Amino acid sequence: MKRSRFTTGLIATLLLCNMAYAQKYPHLAETPPMGWSSWNIFQVSIDENTIKEVADAMVTSGLCEAGYTYLNLDDGWQATQRDESGNLQADSEKFPSGIKSLIDYIHYKGLKFGIYSCAGPQTCAGYPGSRGYEYQDARQFANWGVDFLKYDWCHTKNIVAQEAYSTMSKALEAAKRPILFSMCEWGQNEPWKWGKEIAHMWRTTGDIWLSFNDTIQPFAFKTYSVLQIIDLQHGLRHYAGPGHWNDLDMLEVGNGLTENEDRAHFTMWCMLASPLILGNDVRQMSESTKKILLNTEVIDIDQDPLCIPGFRHMTDGELEFWFKPLSHDEWAFCILNRSTKEREYIIEWQDFNLYDTIAKKSLNFTDDTYTLRNLWTHKAEGDTQKNKKITIPGNDVILYRLSVK
Ligand code: GLA
Repeated sequence: MKRSRFTTGLIATLLLCNMAYAQKYPHLAETPPMGWSSWNIFQVSIDENTIKEVADAMVTSGLCEAGYTYLNLDDGWQATQRDESGNLQADSEKFPSGIKSLIDYIHYKGLKFGIYSCAGPQTCAGYPGSRGYEYQDARQFANWGVDFLKYDWCHTKNIVAQEAYSTMSKALEAAKRPILFSMCEWGQNEPWKWGKEIAHMWRTTGDIWLSFNDTIQPFAFKTYSVLQIIDLQHGLRHYAGPGHWNDLDMLEVGNGLTENEDRAHFTMWCMLASPLILGNDVRQMSESTKKILLNTEVIDIDQDPLCIPGFRHMTDGELEFWFKPLSHDEWAFCILNRSTKEREYIIEWQDFNLYDTIAKKSLNFTDDTYTLRNLWTHKAEGDTQKNKKITIPGNDVILYRLSVK
């Protein structure tokens, strides 16, 4: 039977209409989203001038060019009350020119703009949340020119997560502006199982805090160190892919961890294909912070078009051996030292022959030889024909790109 062009068009339109929000706009997050967010460094102490300076710094430092294109305002941008029409409004002391004018500036700089709200009636910091105002708020964000929405999960007793996030995704769809939707539900309701149709990324854990390996933390609410967050990713890799990502939370690189810890933290977020949302003061970055955040060879591991997160293949005491399949039959290979003490290790390549059931690819050091490129020293280090002796400083990583010779 031959279909008319009209019928085919109609079917295509109907299919598109039935498609869930995130699937309609997968191109917004084909690879893990990259940008900066105000929360880790400023909390609610944000204002127009600071944010404009951040935008300037994102451009002049090369961050924007390296791919960090979203500038996201987190909690604390709002006034304590909605206006008389029920619209969310910015705190007029912090943002005297208003959000629209700020967004125009951000766009003029070549960046995209992200905003924050919450599925509860109040945000985590106590500002008005979007519960009951989803459509109105989504319209407001679209009218302002927002490109990214982080949607939090405070004050949500008796609210069903899947419903609340789905409502906001429908509201965004009705507002008719492609807005990247980021669910911040802390992994409480296993969002990886249902989030793909609703959002482009979902937090997998509670909040990160400035610690590499502590298991005890100083806050009343539960927060997680870098290593704890890595451990909590176990079993989640097959839920991520183009248009839908496991979000390991905003980075703490540049906020006071040691250089080794910063490098390990950044590398592991890339090995796990997490969104890379910076959380430091990009207006004043040390040389070592810049070297880490602007290492495009490492960013390329995160952004690899095969879009498959890595996995821990083997451990030896506190050493962990991680692999991430890449496009063109390449692999990223990361050795993570969780101990504070330096370790020596001899890599006997054939111990690492493996088959990845998700990528459906094998790494076979018996039959194939791979060249080794060290992505932190930017040097070629021979190939996998001979065993390799390595020394890994405490709380650090070695990261190689392996390519078939
Ligand atoms: C929650 C989120 C954080 C941050 C704060 C803001 O804790 O998980 O990422 O957005 O709220 O209040």
